[in-house]
Formats: sequence, structure tokens, C-alpha cells
Amino acid sequence: MQRIGLILTMTALVLLGAACGGSGNKPEPTLDDKLREALTLNGVDELAPLPQHSAEKVELGQALFFDKLLGGNRDMSCSTCHDPREAGSDGLSLSIGVGGSGIGHERQLGAGKDFIPRNAPELFERGGVEFTSMFWDSRVVDDGNGGFRSPAMDQLPDGLDNALAAQAMFPVTSDAEMRGMPGDLDVFGDPNEIAMLDPQDFTGIWDALMERVMAVPEYQQMFQAAFPGVAMQDFGFEHAANAIAAFESEGFSFRNTPFDNYLAGDDSALSDSQKNGALLFYGSAGCARCHSGPALTDLQHHNFMVPALGPGKQDGIDPGFQLTSKQPFDRFSFRTPPLRNVELSGPWMHDGAYTNLRSAVRHMLDCQTSVQSFDATALKPDVRATLNMDQALITDMLATIDPIAAQPMSVTEQQLDEILAFLGALTDPAAATQMPALLPDSVPSGLPVD
Ligand code: HEC
Ligand code: HEC
Repeated sequence: MQRIGLILTMTALVLLGAACGGSGNKPEPTLDDKLREALTLNGVDELAPLPQHSAEKVELGQALFFDKLLGGNRDMSCSTCHDPREAGSDGLSLSIGVGGSGIGHERQLGAGKDFIPRNAPELFERGGVEFTSMFWDSRVVDDGNGGFRSPAMDQLPDGLDNALAAQAMFPVTSDAEMRGMPGDLDVFGDPNEIAMLDPQDFTGIWDALMERVMAVPEYQQMFQAAFPGVAMQDFGFEHAANAIAAFESEGFSFRNTPFDNYLAGDDSALSDSQKNGALLFYGSAGCARCHSGPALTDLQHHNFMVPALGPGKQDGIDPGFQLTSKQPFDRFSFRTPPLRNVELSGPWMHDGAYTNLRSAVRHMLDCQTSVQSFDATALKPDVRATLNMDQALITDMLATIDPIAAQPMSVTEQQLDEILAFLGALTDPAAATQMPALLPDSVPSGLPVD
């Protein structure tokens, strides 16, 4: 509220200034004057510098991120769904977990398996102080008092570095994502001891994983090098999570974008069309009402009536943030995604409903028309088969539509081009070319890296 008040005051001052300054011979404001003013009014600053981590901690995190030892059946690593060759996502509308085969956007469902209910987000800049909330439904958040709210409640150990580290505690506990199903055998035909544990026994799952990891001598050395002073018997999965987060923070930071260079003061970093697009984004197209601040997200939740795909999270649908907040008005709301390198990370939306960025932006401009005329033909056939366009569901979604989303915005084709040009200015060219180098040649368990 305070911030809105400030913006209103500033707007009033600017208007007042314009009204009183009327000598008539002031030079027309340039595109840069207008854009810099819009950025100031919207409180858009440069991203804060990332926290520093030791090389040993990042190296340990990298090994763990790519090591299928963390998958109950030794067949899944974080990188299976957050593949650096797919901009840190998987190139799929909906992720494919345990039992799947193949990599990246060519990954296929295993027999009898269903999709993971949501799209795997890219991981750009998540290690920064701006990101205090994790997941499309913010089920892991920094509580602002040195702790975190999470599905593990009071089982979550102390000592986690940030929300990103708290997040890393959870994929390993999910049976569909990494842990496997009770009775599963691992890739060597041995029993999966992690899948046998009660899903609510988070502590038991983390301890069992640490037992696995610490049975590898190379990991013992790497943990000691990453966390000097911690006694062997005191290592817990929170140390693994802190290391994974350190790697994610460093490895998935690509902020050398034309927009960031512009924010740093270089007027020539953006083309005129990108500047026009930015003026629409921060002005009449209203994008920055939600994609605000340095990370281009308000970390709030909004229902944009995105066409429903996949198995859902509850009774065949995905109620989004309502699952976390338990509030009926949060039904179908999802956390505003950040937009750095957004061009690279399709398909877009919480369920990957759009495989084309232009269509995704059209949806943002007028979601009700977009959902009614949704073209599913671009989706892969097995994903398309899960599309739910039942009128009852659409009516249910409409009941909690975000008030801003409910107001269609009309732009010309040229303005849409300009908005897309601005989104293109959020791409660091190195993100596309240098990310594959994050893949290690091998990992301490000796399991394949693919
Ligand atoms: C089976 C695929 C899969 C695997 C394996 C997986 N993830 Fe994810 N990841 C996802 C999906 C899907 C989401 C979004 C889920 C949601 O919001 O409910 C996600 C969300 C995240 C987020 C939140 C990003 C944000 O903006 O909120 C982070 C961080 C992340 N994963 C890191 C990891 C790490 C670290 C591992 C390994 C320990 C991992 N993931 C393993 C699919 C996967
Ligand atoms: C009322 C808040 C709000 C406004 C205004 C808004 N967005 Fe969004 N945006 C969101 C939310 C929330 C999502 C995710 C919706 C979902 O998946 O259910 C999203 C998703 C997106 C995505 C997909 C990103 C991804 O990683 O999947 C893009 C691109 C995007 N918005 C761009 C824009 C543009 C451009 C505008 C202005 C024309 C805009 N948005 C206006 C809240 C907003």
C-alpha cells in the first residue's frame, strides 16, 4: 500500500510539474526520458548482487544437481527436469518424472505413468534476495523471520541459506518427481529404500538420502571441503540443499541482458522498438502491475484462466495458490513468473499451455477471449489429450478471475511486436550458448549424466 501511495504521489508531482512548467518551449521528452521516468515510477532497479559462495560449495551443489543418486530409483536428477540444454527447464508443457525415458523435450512418459501436474520453471536468478517464494503456488516461502513455511512444517531443519535452498529439500521427497513408488526397484534391480518410507516422514527421507550420499567417499570429501568445521555425523540433507542452491544461484544467473545494461545506464542497450515495448509494458499495457520490480514479478498470485492441462493437483484440477492459502478466492491463482530469458524457456504458463510466446502474451492481454479460442494443435498429442475445456471448469475459473486479467487490453499488431521486442531484450545471449557447459562429465556416484 505504501508503495502505491508513493507512486500516486510521484505521479501527482510529475503531472503538477507538467502543468506548471508550461513555458511551451521545453524540448519534447525523448524516448529515453519517457522510459527512464516510467522505470522510476515503477520502482525498477537493478537486481541486487548475488550472495557469494565458495567454489567448493558450488562444486558440491553441481555434483548433487546432476547426480541420479538423489532419485529413489537412481534414475532421476534435478537436471532431468531442469536441463541446462533446455534453459534450465525441460522444454515440455508438463514435466515427466519417475519411469520416463529420454531427455529434454524428447522425454516420454513411462508405461502407466501420468504427467507431473505443472510446467518446470527455468531457474534464472532464483538465488537472489528478490526470490522469497518458490513454486507456482508459493508453498515454500521465506517467512521473513529467518525461517521458512513449507509442506514439511516443523520437520524442516534449521540452517537453510534461503528460499531456494528450502525448495531443494522437496523434489527428492516427491514420489512422482524423484523418490519413486513403494515396491519400486532401482536401475540395478535393487529395492528402493527411499520409496518405502511414509511420504509424511520428511526427516526419514532426508536421512536415508544422506546415508546413500555419504556412502560415496568422494562426497564425504566434498561435503567436508564445502562446509569446513562441520563434523561428519552432523551433515544433514540441509547441507546438500544449501550446496545445490549455491550451484543454482551461480550456474543459472544470466543477467547480462540489454535491459539490465539499460538499467545500468546505457541508453544504447535497447533498440527503439524495445524501448517502445518497454513503455507499453510499464505503461498502458499494464504488464508491470504484476511483472514488477527488478525480478519482473510481484511474487503475488493471479488467476489468468489459463487453459487447463494435465492430471491436476486435486480432483483432476489444479487449484493453484488455494492449495497453499486455503482461501477460496485464491482458486486457480498462480505466482507471477519472472521474465528474464523468457524467450528461451517455453512452453509457457503453469501448465505449459502455450508453445508460442506471442500467443502467451496475447493471453495476458485478453485471457477470456484467448481461452475461448484456444488452439491446442501446437501441443504434443499426449499433452493435448489432457486438455480440459469443460464449461463447468471455465465457469469455476471465471468466478475468481483476477480483476486486472478480467479487463481486456487491446493493442495493435505493431504494439504486440514491440512488447515482444522488449521481452527479447530480457535475454542474455550467453544463456543460450553457455548453459550447456554446466553439465559435468561425471558425478561422484558414477551414475550416468545425460
Ligand atoms: C520430474 C521433474 C522435476 C525434477 C526431477 C525436479 N524438478 Fe524442480 N520443478 C519441477 C516442476 C514441475 C516445478 C514446478 C512445481 C510447482 O510449482 O508445483 C519445479 C519447481 C522448481 C523450483 C521453483 C522455481 C520457482 O520459480 O518457483 C526450483 C528452484 C526447482 N524446481 C529446483 C529443483 C531442484 C533443486 C531439483 C532436484 C533436487 C528439482 N527441481 C527436481 C520439476 C522437477
Ligand atoms: C494481473 C497480473 C499480471 C499482468 C497484468 C500480466 N501478467 Fe503476465 N503473468 C501473470 C501470471 C500470474 C502468469 C502465470 C499465469 C499462469 O500460468 O496461470 C503470467 C505469465 C506470463 C508469461 C509466461 C511466463 C512463463 O514463464 O510461463 C508471460 C510471457 C507474461 N506473463 C507476460 C506478460 C505481459 C507481456 C503482460 C502485459 C501485456 C503481462 N504478462 C501482464 C501475471 C500478470
